[in-house]
Amino acid sequence: MAATIISIENEHDRALKDGVSRLSEGLPIAIPTETVYGLAADATNPKAVTAIYETKGRPQFNPLICHMADLAMAKLHAEFDPISERLAQAFWPGPLTLVLPLLETSPIHLLATAGLDSVGVRVPKGFASELIRALGRPLAAPSANTSGKISPTSAQHVADDLGNKLSLILDGGSAPVGVESTIIRVEGKRVRLLRPGGIAAEEIEALLGQPVERQEGPAPTIEAPGMLASHYAPGAFVRLNAVDAQAGEALIRFAGQPVTGSEHARAIFDLSASGDLAEAAANLFGLLKQADATGVERIAIGPVPDHGLGEAINDRLMRAAAPRDT
Ligand code: TXA
Ligand code: MG
Repeated sequence: MAATIISIENEHDRALKDGVSRLSEGLPIAIPTETVYGLAADATNPKAVTAIYETKGRPQFNPLICHMADLAMAKLHAEFDPISERLAQAFWPGPLTLVLPLLETSPIHLLATAGLDSVGVRVPKGFASELIRALGRPLAAPSANTSGKISPTSAQHVADDLGNKLSLILDGGSAPVGVESTIIRVEGKRVRLLRPGGIAAEEIEALLGQPVERQEGPAPTIEAPGMLASHYAPGAFVRLNAVDAQAGEALIRFAGQPVTGSEHARAIFDLSASGDLAEAAANLFGLLKQADATGVERIAIGPVPDHGLGEAINDRLMRAAAPRDT
């Protein structure tokens, strides 16, 4: 089976109709979101959620983010405290996921929440929320890639990886944010950052006027299983904070920083020549794939500032560089 790819720009109505019809049948489809492409399925249908895990080749069941059309729909499934509601009002639709108590009346299946009494919810920007509104049910959607591999930021990335395991890929062009959503959990008055992502933690701190607590050490598995050490892994090994390039490496740098010996590199890429962290985030996964496609054994990556979206970029780079099981 080769996936049908439908361009939303060229065939909006067909994309919506075919998307809703596959999802209603309990099939997973690939959809664009502003962060990365998602492998989406009806969160209330156990067969559909199981198919997400099978398609990704994910070994175990992790809680999945449940995507909503809007805040009103989210309130049918999760209980909002005042701080979480304020964050939702400020940042939805957008790259923010809130972990909230799951309402007992919610039809979201326990395979989507991994049986937890909480649920990760977000309202994506653009076509995805239109699709959810038309379906009338939340969509569980992890990134549309084989488990442990680099997340897709274009329909072509999805087709290259999962094209023969999927029936439909909706093409919305390249994902403008480029890294997954920021995951926040409010506990009483504390605001905890479970995963840095497409909204800078500083933006959340500025809105709330209080600090956002970072994870210390690796996140506990149950709270953020997407935070497994080795993740986002290209085929090549990854060397971080490279100040020099070695023969046979591909080099990814930031803001045109001079790297000693860069003339030895097999290829040189720049996350953002002008030093714009948002542009760097949008380019990150695509450039990792391009660097990997040069066939080098190792990718050297220059230092990236750790503030703003740099926090999410450095988080993903650390996982790409982490020791592998296999
Ligand atoms: O940008 C994104 O968030 C993308 C796009 C497709 O929307 N989605 C995504 O989903 O990254 P996924 O399933 O790969 O990431 C889910 C993350 C995991 O780290 C998971 O542990 C966390 O959300 N999560 C979900 N429900 C949770 C819960 N109840 N408690 C704690 N963490 C939860
Ligand atoms: Mg993922």
